[in-house]
Amino acid sequence: MTDNDRQMSLLLDAHRGLPRQGPGDDASTLRALELCADLPMQPEVLDVGCGPGMQTMALAQATGGTITAVDLFEQFLDDLRDRAVEAGVRERIQVMRGDMRDLPFGKHSFDLIWSEGAAYIMGIVNAFQEWKQFLRPQGYIAVTEISWLVPEAEVPRDAYDFFRAEYPGITDVPGNLERIAECGYEIVGHFTLPDEAWWTHYYDPLARNLVTMREKYPLDPQALLLIEASEAEQRIRREFGECYGYEFIVARHVDPDVPLGDASAWPTLREYVPSTSDAGDDDGVSQDEGIGEILTVPPELPRDPD
Ligand SMILES: C[S@@+](CC[C@H](N)C(=O)[O-])C[C@H]1O[C@@H](n2cnc3c(N)ncnc32)[C@H](O)[C@@H]1O
Repeated sequence: MTDNDRQMSLLLDAHRGLPRQGPGDDASTLRALELCADLPMQPEVLDVGCGPGMQTMALAQATGGTITAVDLFEQFLDDLRDRAVEAGVRERIQVMRGDMRDLPFGKHSFDLIWSEGAAYIMGIVNAFQEWKQFLRPQGYIAVTEISWLVPEAEVPRDAYDFFRAEYPGITDVPGNLERIAECGYEIVGHFTLPDEAWWTHYYDPLARNLVTMREKYPLDPQALLLIEASEAEQRIRREFGECYGYEFIVARHVDPDVPLGDASAWPTLREYVPSTSDAGDDDGVSQDEGIGEILTVPPELPRDPD
């Protein structure tokens, strides 16, 4: 196993079984959804970087629509499948292992694109530019994006250095709104995630996992480094949380070149490929229970180590 593989394996271990893989809560998901005022009945939704799918379930239940949930890691998609079965919405969730930078959908496939805590992975501008093609005219996009909540010059050095290293593209809320508008979207609304949304479903359960990790790898320098880095991130949140936050931003695709028309006439996606590695068979969820399963990850992309 290479160093990188081992690092990824430890990271997945630390993040195993968490209710979410980033800050957020259902109340915020639903508040953002309310901003999407004239979605069609039963919209087609794409959830990018869905993780274990807490927001996917909230969206499925609130909209009655179909959701294509995409993530790079099977471990999280397994959690999502279990959750969808429990929530009784499995038949409306299409689970897809794929890379957000190379999504396989046709033009105008979705009424709504959702991405909580994940667009930063390819950069918010790249995400808004790249994913626009998948949105129907007047379609909505909702993301959470880490943002300075105070002028950058006032951010304390520790927090500044941490985020500059982790996410060099970080800017303030007006800066993010401007970037999105420049990509050809109209801002519909935005708000900051409450502080509890960082802790309840993410940092608190993660901290419990880290305790177990310490017991499991007491003498493993790589594991200990990872644990310390994660604990440092939580300390920064505790000390400097008022300086930065996740901004939920809802925007609308405004493309004057694309006429509005009969939505049923627009092409829909779907290049179904029977799953070869999904856990559908052994978790009691047959492929027929979901809309379908797509596998788009080329073999060279990182696989779950387990
Ligand atoms: C911060 S987590 C957010 C997960 C989920 N939206 C939530 O709020 O709980 C980011 C997610 O993006 C996924 N991810 C990372 N790189 C990805 C990629 N290239 N394509 C698709 N998903 C990716 C991770 O596996 C992780 O589940």
